[in-house]
Amino acid sequence: MHEEAAISHKDDLKDRPTPEQTGEAAIGKTLFIQTYGCQMNVYDSERMADVLRPLGYSSVDKPDQANLVVLNTCHIREKATEKVYSEIGRLKAHKDAMALTGDKMTIAIAGCVAQAEGEEIMRRAPAVDLVVGPQAYHKLPELIARAARASGERLETSFEAVEKFDALPTLRTPDGPSAFLSVQEGCDKFCTFCVVPYTRGAEYSRPVDPIIQEARGLAQQGVREITLLGQNVNAYHGQGPALAGPETWSLAQLVRHLAKIGGIERIRYTTSHPSDMDDDLIEAHGEVKELMPYLHLPVQSGSNKILKAMNRKHSVESYLDSIAKVRKARPDIALASDFIVGFPGETEQDFEDTMELVRAVGYAGAYSFKYSKRPGTPASEMYGQVASEVADDRLQRLQALILEQQRAFNATKVGETFDVLFTGKGRNEGQILGRSPWLQSVHVAGPDRLIGQLHSVRIIGTMPNSLTGELVMAS
Ligand code: SAH
Ligand code: SF4
Ligand code: F3S
Repeated sequence: MHEEAAISHKDDLKDRPTPEQTGEAAIGKTLFIQTYGCQMNVYDSERMADVLRPLGYSSVDKPDQANLVVLNTCHIREKATEKVYSEIGRLKAHKDAMALTGDKMTIAIAGCVAQAEGEEIMRRAPAVDLVVGPQAYHKLPELIARAARASGERLETSFEAVEKFDALPTLRTPDGPSAFLSVQEGCDKFCTFCVVPYTRGAEYSRPVDPIIQEARGLAQQGVREITLLGQNVNAYHGQGPALAGPETWSLAQLVRHLAKIGGIERIRYTTSHPSDMDDDLIEAHGEVKELMPYLHLPVQSGSNKILKAMNRKHSVESYLDSIAKVRKARPDIALASDFIVGFPGETEQDFEDTMELVRAVGYAGAYSFKYSKRPGTPASEMYGQVASEVADDRLQRLQALILEQQRAFNATKVGETFDVLFTGKGRNEGQILGRSPWLQSVHVAGPDRLIGQLHSVRIIGTMPNSLTGELVMAS
């Protein structure tokens, strides 16, 4: 969940249809997608590239000369939203420079800012050619055509998650052994600080059949690790397989089934809500070896008074109870969380209660944020807004504690031997980079041919945010 994540897509040029086939003269055109926000946006960016590939768009890694630039935006905190307008300003300069040589840059704004502020973007930023909300990516080709003709509506923020998933191409182009797979979208929880229920709409779970189909396709293309995504992924309740009748499946059922697909060796899911952490899913952590020992379970605060004001629907006690159960089922599980400091009404004692909860749990890592007032959310109008400097100070103290815990957790792995999934080259020549079962980055000296595979590694040291190890050869 970091707005800093910026991902671009490089695609294959082969199998491109002709302009006659597509009705669009996009052959040889270039696409740059900039992704902000959560993993769901990362997934969506990949799917946008999938939708645009048949039109002849191939991805480039710089926006400067791209014919189509998509900003896939995040609305979660004020800073994330501001970035969009400054980035549009930068793009406009490139767009103007291209126009001088007779080239055209189309600028599309997608994602949660598009959904929340679409009309305002069109008004404030004339350089923007089209705006498309998260539920309407399958309509991108049509919107691009309309923008090219400069006629018709260029704002598409309708809310049909069902339609979106049905209309996206089934074939994906994974660019490594680890892939995201969205299974659930939207949220009905309405935490008082959060924009997600407004930008992503009501909770929707995809049916099991197309998920299995997508997972099989990924496995056939070399994917070994799948991370199931949803704003509230553990609330998943999708239509079960057509052959099995009308009942819905839980996330635990889905995980157990996906674990049987040949090639899928690791399964993760994110993000979960504490009140949807049911016993079935907890048991799966003890029973399904493919389900990785890592759980991101955001608690937000350690004060019941603040949790109530946040409308979180769980208490400190119920959260600790779930954690204890998960740890019983899977003793080596790594726990992660999200925290907000400086929520309206948070006193020093409330904050101390959060620190106490962190000490009680012992996290492998966590994200913590300073409360950001979001337009239209109930918390933005609450009494007791906390002064910025006070929140800054609390954030620093919390982050120091979390960092200490993260380092302590990493240190426990030194001397252990386990499988690492290698995902790419390391920073230095001759180094490769992989991922431990507990989601830690692991650097080892090793040959590139191991990229895409799992291999046994013995951990020999820690760095601030990662581990170093050596390959263990089979005896
Ligand atoms: N569905 C996930 C959270 C999605 S948003 C969940 O319920 O856990 C990711 C994180 O951003 C949240 O967990 C929260 O910690 C943070 N966040 C959301 N709204 C925020 C706001 N207005 N100010 C600061 N942080 C916020
Ligand atoms: Fe936002 Fe709360 Fe829904 Fe998470 S559960 S997406 S924090 S409203
Ligand atoms: Fe941001 Fe939207 Fe994700 S607001 S965190 S991109 S759901």
